[in-house]
Amino acid sequence: MAVERTLSIIKPDGVERNLIGKVVARFEEEGLAPVAMRMVHLSKKEAEGFYAVHAERPFFDSLVQFMTRSPVVVMVLEGDDAIARNREIMGATNPEEADEGTLRALYASGIEENTVHGSDSPENAAKEIKYFFSDVQVFSRA
Ligand code: CMP
Repeated sequence: MAVERTLSIIKPDGVERNLIGKVVARFEEEGLAPVAMRMVHLSKKEAEGFYAVHAERPFFDSLVQFMTRSPVVVMVLEGDDAIARNREIMGATNPEEADEGTLRALYASGIEENTVHGSDSPENAAKEIKYFFSDVQVFSRA
């Protein structure tokens, strides 16, 4: 098992409902340690840039509107197999398909307002971490 880093976002619906503590506690309990963290109110341009791979999808404009509605918490999680583990802990994108006990099954209200984001591959994790944090802003627990 390799120690990895992944980008996690607590989305506006999570921050608005005061779920920051619950989400971070869950990651810590599951062995994923935050090694960088900040709150940011994304501009339209920042949200569009982050989700650029979805630019042609029908939900893109609505997604950007949602992600810029209020502040989000962006963080880097570090731990064994962090990328896959984070995705297991989050559950499926659509909360109706998410396994019981996953963050999205517990907290998400729909496929868009799904409370958390997590990188889906090592390539995207590296890209997404860079989007929000410089090397000196990320610490190491490993
Ligand atoms: P996330 O894992 O952050 O990646 C893309 C986001 O687009 C997704 O979570 C949802 O918030 C949002 N989204 C809205 N509609 C859809 C859809 N039909 N399929 C996938 N993602 C969607």
